[in-house]
Amino acid sequence: MKTLVLINFKTYKEVSGENALAIAKKIALVKRNKYQIVIAPPTLSLKEVCQKSKARCFAQHVDYKDYGSNTGRVLPVELKKIGCQGAIINHSEHRLPLEIIKKTIMECKKRKLITVVCATTLAKIKKIAQFKPDYIAYEPAGLIGGDISVTKSKPEIIVKAVETVKKISPRTKVLAGAGVHSQEDLGQALLLGCQGVLIAHAVVKAKDPKKFLERMLI
Ligand code: G3P
Repeated sequence: MKTLVLINFKTYKEVSGENALAIAKKIALVKRNKYQIVIAPPTLSLKEVCQKSKARCFAQHVDYKDYGSNTGRVLPVELKKIGCQGAIINHSEHRLPLEIIKKTIMECKKRKLITVVCATTLAKIKKIAQFKPDYIAYEPAGLIGGDISVTKSKPEIIVKAVETVKKISPRTKVLAGAGVHSQEDLGQALLLGCQGVLIAHAVVKAKDPKKFLERMLI
């Protein structure tokens, strides 16, 4: 089982328009046997990045809807069609009610998309684990976008999250996210029992995202 390094491009200016594809192509050149590197480009660039780069892509958000009158929704069936392999669900910056999270996971499973569901607290992790997603990413909202890593700030909660998820849904893997920015943070996440990290600004806003990643993933 490879360690997942999921890089959320968010909608930072650095990945606006054609920049998303340019950065995706560079990141796709980083090869590490131990790691599965995946990017989540902005929604408007997702199709282009999926089809014109060799990067493995997840969507930043997805809805549970199927074809029909669903204005503005992101359909799992369409994600699959463009070559997208999974999706982030319930990011702290795009939260969903529990019932919708459940339906979204089910629809994604039907379409064979990998599900990464974010949760900001242990209480939410317990509830989301019952829906058996592929991954749960623990991301405390207050640390997102900052320079203090969740692995340093909340190690005891990460350990509890890993134990809790193992009991409720043994096949669901746990990611740590928020403030992750170094090889040490990644190593610490793995020591605490996680199977990867969710990371954004440290990569996207790095002077050279490819070099940054290469240094982080030694
Ligand atoms: O989705 C990843 C994210 O919310 C963490 O952001 O910038 O703290 O790595 P960042």
